Amino acid sequence: MTFSKKIICAAVAVAAAWTLSSAPSFAADRSLYERLGGQGAIQAVVTKFIGNVGADKRINGYFATTDLKKLNKLLVEQVCAASGGPCTYSGRDMKTTHKGMKVTTAAFNALVEDW
Ligand code: HEM
Repeated sequence: MTFSKKIICAAVAVAAAWTLSSAPSFAADRSLYERLGGQGAIQAVVTKFIGNVGADKRINGYFATTDLKKLNKLLVEQVCAASGGPCTYSGRDMKTTHKGMKVTTAAFNALVEDW
């Protein structure tokens, strides 16, 4: 390969790398759902979260009679749909769901810590 061809190859490689790594549109084109890692990653985080809540004595009483398998499914749907993924949330709205539960600020903060 001639010296000038080497220079052109190097320039093309640098331009391609720059386009792939630093073009702003590249990152912006990906939904939050994709950037989170898609369905598998969301499922893993929700399952871990439900385990954390179950072990958290500060708030697990709220979930004493809850069908955890169903809650798991609904939370995955909710996070998937809210982050732009291909899901439809099939649960109740948040106001109806939590009405009458007397969720305190401390309980809310504990739940957030469990994520
Ligand atoms: C970011 C805030 C929260 C979100 C997005 C959220 C989301 C949800 C969702 C999607 C469901 C399932 C809805 C359905 O059954 O149709 C649910 C149920 C439930 N949530 Fe929350 N939640 C939040 C905060 C909390 C907090 C702070 C508590 C209490 C410490 C709590 C306690 C419960 C309980 C006990 C259920 C099950 C209700 C049942 O057994 O029927 N949630 N939540």
